[in-house]
Amino acid sequence: MRRPFIAGNWKMNLNRREAATLAGSIARRAGELAHLDLAVCPPSVYLETVGAALSGGPVGLGAQNMYHEAAGAFTGEISAAMLVDLGCRYVILGHSERRHILGETDEQVNRKVLAALAAGLTPIACVGELLEEREAGQTGEVIRRQFDRSLAGLPDEQMRRVVIAYEPVWAIGTGKVATPQQAQEVHLDLRKLISARYNQGLAQTVRILYGGSVKAANAAELLSQADVDGALVGGASLKADEFLAIAAGAQRN
Ligand code: 13P
Repeated sequence: MRRPFIAGNWKMNLNRREAATLAGSIARRAGELAHLDLAVCPPSVYLETVGAALSGGPVGLGAQNMYHEAAGAFTGEISAAMLVDLGCRYVILGHSERRHILGETDEQVNRKVLAALAAGLTPIACVGELLEEREAGQTGEVIRRQFDRSLAGLPDEQMRRVVIAYEPVWAIGTGKVATPQQAQEVHLDLRKLISARYNQGLAQTVRILYGGSVKAANAAELLSQADVDGALVGGASLKADEFLAIAAGAQRN
């Protein structure tokens, strides 16, 4: 059985005090949600502050990005080991905002995924199609290409540790959520891709999260789909009540 996983991607929001307060509010109430994994991914400058507010409780700490090199002259970048040093368990990689605003390629995402795994982090590797790709009937092809390239070269034991997030770009920050059927269809395709490259047993263990305009009001229905194992939540993760209500929706399954 796959344990549900709800992660909050705070993106470039909040100040240090707000980040600590939000993390503290989530941490205080996370005990009620013992049957799932919860994580928050603050801006990297607040990782230490948020880590302290989570104070060793069950809520995991994640970063929103990292660089694939271990150390050296890479001005402005942060290594996997640095994230581990700050107490991170997770790192979001290949988010569509990094792919489309900052020009990150599948090959760069792949190098980051491999470096994160080597350092002991759990990558939350994101894939997702643009609106024009969906409208042109190319969703399956785009997802396959991103899966093949961003997650290339992972031996079985590493693939088992990866979390995949399906985030249709047209649903991110738009209020236009994928229907549960649209999400389920792509999640099942992803599981079939894992099964074809590895085996069915392994495919059944990998958690696949949905992301894109998830809120408390639509979470339970999305999370009730057979291959939707959790959510990567943006805007709605900035309010403790809303984020915890989404998580409560996952627990009901
Ligand atoms: P929203 O939930 O704000 O649409 O963002 C989704 C997302 O990008 C999470 O990584």
